[in-house]
Amino acid sequence: MSLFLEAARGQDTARAPIWIMRQAGRYLSEYRALRARYSFWEMCRTPELAAEVTLQPLRRFDLDAAILFQDIMTPLPPMGVEIDFSPGPVLKEPVRSAQQVRALRVPEGGEIAPFVAEAIRLIRAESPVPLIGFGGAPLTLATYLVQGSGSKDYDEFRQFLRYAPETAHALLDKLTDLSVRYLKVQLQAGAQAVQLFDSWAGLHDARVYREFAKPYNTRIFEALAAFGVPRLYIAVGALHLYGEIKDLPCEVVSVDWRVPLSHVRPLLPGKTLQGNLDPAVLLAPEGVLRAEAERVLREGLGGPHIFNLGHGIMRQTDPERLAQLVAVVREFDRRAHTT
Ligand code: CP3
Repeated sequence: MSLFLEAARGQDTARAPIWIMRQAGRYLSEYRALRARYSFWEMCRTPELAAEVTLQPLRRFDLDAAILFQDIMTPLPPMGVEIDFSPGPVLKEPVRSAQQVRALRVPEGGEIAPFVAEAIRLIRAESPVPLIGFGGAPLTLATYLVQGSGSKDYDEFRQFLRYAPETAHALLDKLTDLSVRYLKVQLQAGAQAVQLFDSWAGLHDARVYREFAKPYNTRIFEALAAFGVPRLYIAVGALHLYGEIKDLPCEVVSVDWRVPLSHVRPLLPGKTLQGNLDPAVLLAPEGVLRAEAERVLREGLGGPHIFNLGHGIMRQTDPERLAQLVAVVREFDRRAHTT
């Protein structure tokens, strides 16, 4: 079995496997070259292009997992919403009324994104390492649908949860059904793990998380349990929510850079920890990079650890720096450091 899958299943491996959030993307010249010829949606919706971009970072770096090239917004247009990227998601018309929520369709799995299943088959035929499928968590998808675009503090969305809680639940319920179908399609096509991105969950207090996020995330993870693949979860800036997140039926929790992994370990009993180098460290000189990465590796001892960044890699990152990071992680023998 691969090191990534072993660690994700809870083994305290001799070396920490490494993959990088947003490992396919604009910091790679070969990505930008393709992107100059195609729109982002064209790249997502053409299986050969999506597979090619997924494989690009694996050709350059000795990574332990691949992540499907798509976006968290991929399954939403078939519900009847129009989304552009500029550079983040922008809704043509934000979804805010009960009537708009009622009008959203929840298509059958096969209709949602047939190009994704095909891309996964192409990737599996080529990739030397396991493939992680992914989706957006319902609360995070709803954040974009309601707010209508990226925002500093998502005030419209936070207001919506208070003014229209029933509409919010109706929306989250549909997004949950959609996500279950979409993620099942990915697993049936050959994805070997799934990560649920709850990027904006950290905006909310624990009470809001308990009401509007936890039951839906739980439903998704439970619906995928029968596949027996590792289930990964990330919420950014969410230390105050770990008392809830610890109960999610998933194997791995990805931690952002704000807190050392050793501090989080007792808060998430039984989970594999993933993370948590600050992506900005990849912009620092080589000596700083090595010292900070080794610090993260030491903090990750004492339980299963998958090395990653605390959030996505920045587009101005020099790919050479990522190659150095991979070397540092591969050299670090966790057994030699465990007392
Ligand atoms: O390599 C990978 O990690 C796989 C591909 C991937 C993309 N988006 C491609 C992408 C993944 C896993 C995502 C997830 C995603 N998308 C999240 C969750 C992770 C996180 O960052 O919190 C979120 C919130 C989005 C929404 C989104 N899509 C944003 C904010 C942006 C623009 C800014 C950015 O960070 O690049 C996108 C567009 C997007 N998604 C790009 C890529 C490669 C850039 C598109 C371009 O070429 O212009």
